Amino acid sequence: MGESITITDNRTGESIEIPIVDGGIDAGAWSSLLPGIWFDDPSFSATSGASSSITYLDGGAGLLRYRGYPIEQLAGTAGFMEVAYLVVFGELPTRDQLDAWCDEIAEAAPIHENFHKRILEGFRDDAHAMGVLIAGIAAMSTFWPDGKDVEDTTCRRTQMVRLIAKMPTLAASAYRRSVGTPYVQPDHGLDYTGNFLSMMFGQREGGYEVDPVLRDALDLLFVLHADHEQNCSTTAARIVGSSHADPYVTLASAAAALYGPRHGGANEAVVRMLEGISSYDQVDDFITGVKAGDHKLMGFGHRVYKNYDPRARILKDVAHKVFAVTGTNPLLDMALKLEEVALADDYFISRSLYPNVDFYSGLIYQSMGFPIEMFTVLFAIGRTPGWLAHWDELMAQGSRIARPRQVYTGHAQRDVPSIDQR
Ligand code: ACO
Repeated sequence: MGESITITDNRTGESIEIPIVDGGIDAGAWSSLLPGIWFDDPSFSATSGASSSITYLDGGAGLLRYRGYPIEQLAGTAGFMEVAYLVVFGELPTRDQLDAWCDEIAEAAPIHENFHKRILEGFRDDAHAMGVLIAGIAAMSTFWPDGKDVEDTTCRRTQMVRLIAKMPTLAASAYRRSVGTPYVQPDHGLDYTGNFLSMMFGQREGGYEVDPVLRDALDLLFVLHADHEQNCSTTAARIVGSSHADPYVTLASAAAALYGPRHGGANEAVVRMLEGISSYDQVDDFITGVKAGDHKLMGFGHRVYKNYDPRARILKDVAHKVFAVTGTNPLLDMALKLEEVALADDYFISRSLYPNVDFYSGLIYQSMGFPIEMFTVLFAIGRTPGWLAHWDELMAQGSRIARPRQVYTGHAQRDVPSIDQR
């Protein structure tokens, strides 16, 4: 046997040697010695819930790789459509494969007129775009019931194309509905990200010029968000998917998990936080409040990164390129000052708290003209290939339904009193 650990049940004196495989151990081996004793790990801090070949992450070293390729290399060389293909299918596309993939995606981008009229227009005017997006993705389940054949590889591929293709259309529609401007149909002649910008900010009659610097920056942001292994939203997708629910409701559950301010909703929360610190002089007081537990420093900290998030490093460069076109974001200085103060403070050093991907992304989105409610929607567009790749991988693995154990802390058995005795 290679590396292993031995555990002994001190109640019986029985021991068992358990092999360590790929840095982990099989819970089944523990259970054979200790039936009925569960690991109590509600946040999955020490529990692997998946075997996956999609993304490698070493939080201590600050490494992130999609299918083996370092994020720093992909970020400089491959566009979002190439990376989506890589994440979903496992290899970078050839030029012909990429052209065919982009055509396939572009053809699937339009959304049925009824979807706009009957579903999107049913929301209140001030409905948050993430609420609309989550409901919209779930509603797609009713338009494409053929997606329920989740064990069929060809069927899964069709749904993955549809979802990647329609996310920007749905996202732009959620925005245009909220501002009351007519929906703009997808333009097959534009690339994925340029088309999204045109559906967001263009006119029905056309004539919208996509700024190449902003397009490239947004495309790169999508690349940086494409996957991040077993994060909260991907885990939600895997758990819901394990029940063989269709991919639309499965992705809606992932998007719902993303919405929370501890996860993808942090990009919105960071900008709201920066706007709430009214002057530069208040930064020190704000940090004192964080250390006292009054509030969190949003955009800082991560369950697995105990080093600078490599995506945040790349984003800082993107920010400068975008600000060269749009003019600097007045909140940037505040963010830089917060980062400087936090990185020199023992509270943050001792807890290994560094900026994460959300610390700078919101500032970039804001400078590009996106309203704050759209920030997490943008994250969702980028993350869609990752969610789908994990769902597809799970289906291909023929995994069992996810069903954790619990540590019961309630009453022992007791008799039901009649209503007058309560
Ligand atoms: N500000 C202040 N203190 C923090 C922060 C923060 N942003 N993050 C963690 N801490 C503190 C915790 O209070 C804890 O302190 P303690 O040891 O004195 O109790 C310590 O650092 C360890 O943190 P945990 O709570 O164990 O971290 P966990 O892994 O559970 O949470 C999370 C990670 C949710 C990301 C957390 O760091 C956080 O809330 N950050 C702010 C929100 C955010 O930016 N989220 C985006 C994450 S990236 C993404 O999902 C896309």
